[in-house]
Amino acid sequence: MQSLTSLHTFGIQAKCNSLETVDSVDSLVYAINIYKNQPLLFLGEGSNTIFVEDFEGCVLLNKLKGVHVSEDDEFYHLSVASGENWHELVVFCIERGINGFENLALIPGTVGAAPIQNIGAYGVEIERFIHSVEFYEIESGRMAYFNRKECEFAYRESRFKREAGKRIITSVNFVLPKQYQLVTSYGPLAELKEASAQSIFKKVIEIRQQKLPDPSKLGNAGSFFKNPTISMSHFLDLQSRYPDIPHFSAPEGMIKIPAAWLIDTLGFKGVKQGDVGCHQHQALVLVNHGNAKGKDLIYLARDIKQQVANHFNIELENEVRLIGRDNAIEL
Ligand code: EPU
Repeated sequence: MQSLTSLHTFGIQAKCNSLETVDSVDSLVYAINIYKNQPLLFLGEGSNTIFVEDFEGCVLLNKLKGVHVSEDDEFYHLSVASGENWHELVVFCIERGINGFENLALIPGTVGAAPIQNIGAYGVEIERFIHSVEFYEIESGRMAYFNRKECEFAYRESRFKREAGKRIITSVNFVLPKQYQLVTSYGPLAELKEASAQSIFKKVIEIRQQKLPDPSKLGNAGSFFKNPTISMSHFLDLQSRYPDIPHFSAPEGMIKIPAAWLIDTLGFKGVKQGDVGCHQHQALVLVNHGNAKGKDLIYLARDIKQQVANHFNIELENEVRLIGRDNAIEL
């Protein structure tokens, strides 16, 4: 058995049957063929995956590396191996005057995880920069790719996430326009006196460091739940009970409500059960105060989900990937 504890940022103590490092497509294919008769899990930096118990299978650790940049009159084209660190790519681009990723600074994890989750923060989601995503298809044993449309992106969703286990992303091809309109719509960014990619980058880092716990100091996996969307009539009903309820318009006339507000309103912020807690500055982030147990995390997450359903008639969905004995588990 191999320890997984330092391989996921929530840091629950867990083990797996075997662990293989993958640093080329050939080594990936080789490992898949060897371990194909047991549960397989491809893992980046483990910042959105939580092992809630021992995994009775093989974990393939993504160390695929390489960044290739080219340009034409209008665009920068980046082809990036999926095991590269996301924030290091953001820094690489900022240093070269390639704009667009600055709103997504300091998001933990690998480049390969970015399209799975359609990572987003401070007014920008990664889908807008994705040209195509290359992957190894497990069933056919072939390399293939999806263009942006085929990835079927939505809020924190993609075809890769919906059809988890079928494909292993090996590289991501980005296209960034040279004439890029900076995004400063998110509150604190709108206050910037002279908006530039650099100043947005710095501000985003400052906000994240204030609000979100650093996983190297306090185990966590970022937002635990997605922000739910509800119908207008449901929203008006809630607003009559809670006049200050924060809300945002979402596609198709729906209304997005911050899950953090729902959880905070029910009094969970700062709560601690065993070594699992709800972060004191951001109610959407569950944390590991030291020796958190998987069962305590599931208990707290289910309690939050149940109480949100009872009080607001809203079904929360987890944003993190929870891994049990041999597969992903649902709350
Ligand atoms: N709020 C509370 N209590 C809290 C925190 C927030 O009531 O403890 C309310 C406030 O009204 C605030 C609103 O919730 O205005 C929204 O909070 P915030 O701006 O912090 O963003 P969020 O909706 O909680 C989302 C993403 C984050 C991303 C931020 C900024 C999701 C699930 N989360 O959080 O992404 O950094 O917006 O764009 O969409 C992640 O995915 O892991 C993540 C951290």
